[in-house]
Amino acid sequence: MTSFTSRISGFHRLDVAGRLARLVETGVLSEDASGHLTAGGVVPVSAVDKMSENVIATQALPLSVALNFRVNQEDVLVPMAVEEPSIVAAASNAARLVRIAGGFTGEADRPVMTAQVQLDDVPDAASAPAKVEARKDRLIAAANDAIPRMVQRGGGCVDLDVRVLDEAAGVVVLHFYVDVGDAMGANLVDTVAEAVAPKVQEAIGGEIGLRILSNLPLRRMVRVSARVSAEALGGDEMAERIVRASRFAELDPFRAVTHNKGVMNAVDAVAVALGQDWRSIEAGAHAYAALQGGYKPIAVWRRTDDGVEGTIEMPLAVATVGGSTRAHRGVEAAFEILGTRDAQKLAVVMAAAGLACNFAALKALAGEGIQKGHMRLHHRKAEAEQARRRELEERR
Ligand code: MEV
Repeated sequence: MTSFTSRISGFHRLDVAGRLARLVETGVLSEDASGHLTAGGVVPVSAVDKMSENVIATQALPLSVALNFRVNQEDVLVPMAVEEPSIVAAASNAARLVRIAGGFTGEADRPVMTAQVQLDDVPDAASAPAKVEARKDRLIAAANDAIPRMVQRGGGCVDLDVRVLDEAAGVVVLHFYVDVGDAMGANLVDTVAEAVAPKVQEAIGGEIGLRILSNLPLRRMVRVSARVSAEALGGDEMAERIVRASRFAELDPFRAVTHNKGVMNAVDAVAVALGQDWRSIEAGAHAYAALQGGYKPIAVWRRTDDGVEGTIEMPLAVATVGGSTRAHRGVEAAFEILGTRDAQKLAVVMAAAGLACNFAALKALAGEGIQKGHMRLHHRKAEAEQARRRELEERR
């Protein structure tokens, strides 16, 4: 990551050109990326035509930068693409308070994705785990034969396990765990699942069913924590209120889902800016929230001696290669701003942004309420809407 400070004072008061100029001054942007952004970040339709089907145009979102983030002792500018006012400001404000106490610390697991292979009508399903165990090495070798280039790069299938989902109906599912490097890994694990299915069938019998990744990659977790002092919060009472707000989410799924939505406000915004599969990230986050029975918050805040400490834990499958990460100039520019192409570091930054937004929401809700700050920013959006209406009327 970059070695400059992410604490750029007065950034939000500059106009768009001024903000870009400040980013260029920091040296994070190549000439190509700064040229692209200075021209408004417009991607030609001819480029996106190859990304999807029946393309008729592009749909632009604001690309912003969240400031003040310090993650594992390194400053980082966090690109975010999102239309909801207050997310970028909330993340930046929370990161400013967290950095006073040293910043975010975290770690991401090795990038291990899960491939599922379903077998139906398996005879004597109860004996399937033992039969698979006896052939485990051969099955892992078959998985690796399907993805030789990933194995050469240091990844590949590292483990497998078996789950009997319905013994009477003979429904058995195997999970193949594949280190996918800096990729999101969907294509790789789908390749593995399709390649190994006949070998699994040989081992345990039955009919081959689905062969597809799971969007709940429990071996690809990220964990981040952060502290904020009571002093920075204006006193112990505010610290107490934040912890009570967090506890509310632990007690009530109706609150937990809104609490988690606040986390995902930032996670998704970073994901969109960086061309990630945000649908899979969303699916994984909510499945994880519901994994232990009931629906729980993925980030929680507790009291410390001198303030509060927050922790977030979630599965996070992110990529710095493949997909649109090198095929979209705007996404490439966002990666330059982020300053890393290491998928594990990206996961930690995304989770830190999620924890920051969650903290900002709880602080606002536990204090003056969310509406005051929101309304100020919505007012700005309303001004933009009015300008657009005027433009349309003038054209008539
Ligand atoms: C709004 O986009 C997000 C919040 O509702 C999150 C929360 O309530 O914690 C403010």
